[in-house]
Amino acid sequence: MPYFEITGGKKLNGEIEVKGAKNAALKAVAAALLSSEKWIIKNLPQIEDINRILEMAEDLGAKIKRGNNKVEIQAKSIKKTRLSEKLAGKLRASIILAGPVLARMGKVSMPYPGGCVIGKRPIDLFLAGFQKMGAKVKWQDDHFSLSARKLKGAKIFFPKISVTGTEAMMITAVLAEGETILENAAMEPEIPALAEFLNRCGAKIFGAGTPTIRIKGVKGIRGGQMKLIPDRIETGTFVILAALCGGKIKIRNCNPDHIRAFLVNIQKAGVRIEEKKNELVVWGAEKINPVNVTTHEYPGFATDLQPPFTLLVTQARGTSQIHDPIFEGRLLFTDILNSMGANIVLNDPHRAAIHGPTRLRGRKIASPDLRAGITLLLAGLIAKGKTVVENIYQIDRGYEKIEERLQKLGADIKRIM
Ligand code: UD1
Repeated sequence: MPYFEITGGKKLNGEIEVKGAKNAALKAVAAALLSSEKWIIKNLPQIEDINRILEMAEDLGAKIKRGNNKVEIQAKSIKKTRLSEKLAGKLRASIILAGPVLARMGKVSMPYPGGCVIGKRPIDLFLAGFQKMGAKVKWQDDHFSLSARKLKGAKIFFPKISVTGTEAMMITAVLAEGETILENAAMEPEIPALAEFLNRCGAKIFGAGTPTIRIKGVKGIRGGQMKLIPDRIETGTFVILAALCGGKIKIRNCNPDHIRAFLVNIQKAGVRIEEKKNELVVWGAEKINPVNVTTHEYPGFATDLQPPFTLLVTQARGTSQIHDPIFEGRLLFTDILNSMGANIVLNDPHRAAIHGPTRLRGRKIASPDLRAGITLLLAGLIAKGKTVVENIYQIDRGYEKIEERLQKLGADIKRIM
């Protein structure tokens, strides 16, 4: 199994470009299945999660043509109504494919989706939403079977804000009969970006990016070309990289407006940042202040940026309190940081007290999930001595050729095959 070998302590300098947003790309591939015409998705990150969702779309009958950071998808017809069990087990976002198949074919069956082990991750909101739109849901032979001769518009209130839940219902409602209203919808920037593109293809979606989204069903949608927005989680991760290891790093092709809550807190930590329209210049921090953070749905502090932020404050002088109420397993990786020398006390699964500063020591560790994985890689870059990070499939799921991009900044990191 491949792993990363890192020698910590190098000062990093230079420029790094942010890739297209993973979480936007996954949903765009699913939305492409709504149309029988060709969709071209540009600024596509070359990462494992995208490989998996494209394999799933292909398995359902879509024609896929990959280029450099671009893909053409055309689902003239859908040939299967059962989502691949093997692939769905690797990717939670696979559930997003269910809606377009159900809308076009009147039925779909799928296993319980896999993905990051960061908590229970139920799918009740999806099932309830599909039911509201008229689908019958059955659990049969380890699969959910959903069927509806014709999906109907419905009023769906989300008792809990869910990003993929909102996107799944928004996409599915495009081809439903009548009007769908989503209330207490998620507002992450990937949602209005997708809605805007769907509208250019003939969908009628209003209010995406606000808590109430209205979708007027249409008979069909056209093909087109879309460019994915920059990955805001990768952007924030690189800000922390620069704060911990710079030098001076210019982060190109990003949208600082998408990480406002994060930037406010990183500046409280004392990190110097210069902001331009699509760029951030970040200097290594001599002294880091402790900061208390609570993660929140957008536009709050993204839970996906909590793990690298937690690493940052292991280097702060004093105690920081981190509260991550969104997933119950998001702080469990702090055990691994402790094994490298950090002093983090978990008060409960959602709350940690981080006492700093602590000198981290390199050792052999394994990525438990995507965001914890990149955090451990960053920990290796500041640790004394050598760090080996195993299970790097988890990192490759979301970060394109990360070792090559870090090497260009001066990092001592090798992928050992
Ligand atoms: C998405 C992102 C992920 C990010 C998360 C929160 C993708 C592919 N992934 O995940 O990177 O960490 O948003 O910003 O876009 N929930 C239920 N029932 C459901 C669905 C969700 O209770 O049916 C709960 C979850 O357990 C969690 C909360 O809702 O506590 C939010 O999860 P959700 O927004 O759905 O996360 P994802 O869309 O899976």
